[in-house]
Amino acid sequence: MSVRRLAEEQFQPAGFSFNPENATWAEATIRKYPAGRQQSAVIPLLMRAQEQEGWVTKAAIEYVAEKLDMAYIRVLEVATFYTQFQLKPVGTRAHIQVCGTTPCMLRGAEDLIHVCKSKIHPEPFERNADGTLSWEEVECQGACVNAPMVMIFKDSYEDLSPIQLEHIIDRFASGKGSDVKPGPQIDRIYSAPVGGPTTLTDDIQPIRFNDTPAPAKTEETSVPPANAAKPVTDAPETDKSLKTPATAKKAAAENVKQKGDSADTARPVEKAAPAPVMDEKNRPVGIERPTTPDDLKMISGVGPKIEATLNGLGIYTFEQIAKWKKAEREWVDTYLKFSGRIERDDWVKQAKALAKGGEAEYIKVFGKKPR
Ligand code: FES
Repeated sequence: MSVRRLAEEQFQPAGFSFNPENATWAEATIRKYPAGRQQSAVIPLLMRAQEQEGWVTKAAIEYVAEKLDMAYIRVLEVATFYTQFQLKPVGTRAHIQVCGTTPCMLRGAEDLIHVCKSKIHPEPFERNADGTLSWEEVECQGACVNAPMVMIFKDSYEDLSPIQLEHIIDRFASGKGSDVKPGPQIDRIYSAPVGGPTTLTDDIQPIRFNDTPAPAKTEETSVPPANAAKPVTDAPETDKSLKTPATAKKAAAENVKQKGDSADTARPVEKAAPAPVMDEKNRPVGIERPTTPDDLKMISGVGPKIEATLNGLGIYTFEQIAKWKKAEREWVDTYLKFSGRIERDDWVKQAKALAKGGEAEYIKVFGKKPR
């Protein structure tokens, strides 16, 4: 962990006090704790001070210490220990905390840091030219399963590719950061497996809060025409015994019985959302496997499994992807359950560069190495 010190005097404001709204909130927060335990409010109060000022000033630490009847050094210890507290001015529109712990590092955190260096400032904690953006590397943020990720204020943005992070930074830079949906940036529900659940896939779905069920696999979306090679997908095979309404109903009833519920009191069966219709005429034309297929994993957003799936569709070369029209991109995006990721990662632009001049051309176009 880096040494954390307060900002130099030149940055420190003369004083601090909560605005009326925050002062009311602070009083209510302090009252939540039992008599004699008011000091437990130190973290919420420091966090609110940071939200008000943008960072934790020395005056704010003194103010909180006085309010909670604590020694200044005790509040200073808290503020300097937790990296959630910013001790010097950070970007006014976004301070990007890139997780650099092992799982995120193994999944591409270095590429994300490279993006921050090139788009914001070469050094952490330094602001960009207009003071709106800054970045730092932090330790694990607890979203390792969706690595790599970044934290911006209270939201995390997960399953990131460098291109997606560039897009997110651009949105925040233009004051439209709230347009970006926090959480996984791929087709993943929270931290569920990529491509959809792999367990509890029978008709009685677990209740999920504030969410809609993942689209069910159907013949239309999951099975390519008979003359295509069988693709490898991340999603599980559907339980064949539940394919007909009669067997599905029977299995559901048995499931209810096993759980000791009566059919009348069972939780309502969630209906899976209809899967998007995929018109086969838009499916990209596949080719026979060439002697030396391109390494499609050089395209940001394509990993070994996705590459295998593309190969299963007869897609082996950058040139093929570079020629995809919108309808074809949408077909593949739907097939992979990517929710627009092919557009966001701009596979076509990446593939064009790689087809034209390999890694050298990619670096020329994107200013960095392909993955
Ligand atoms: S290692 Fe990055 S969130 Fe845990």
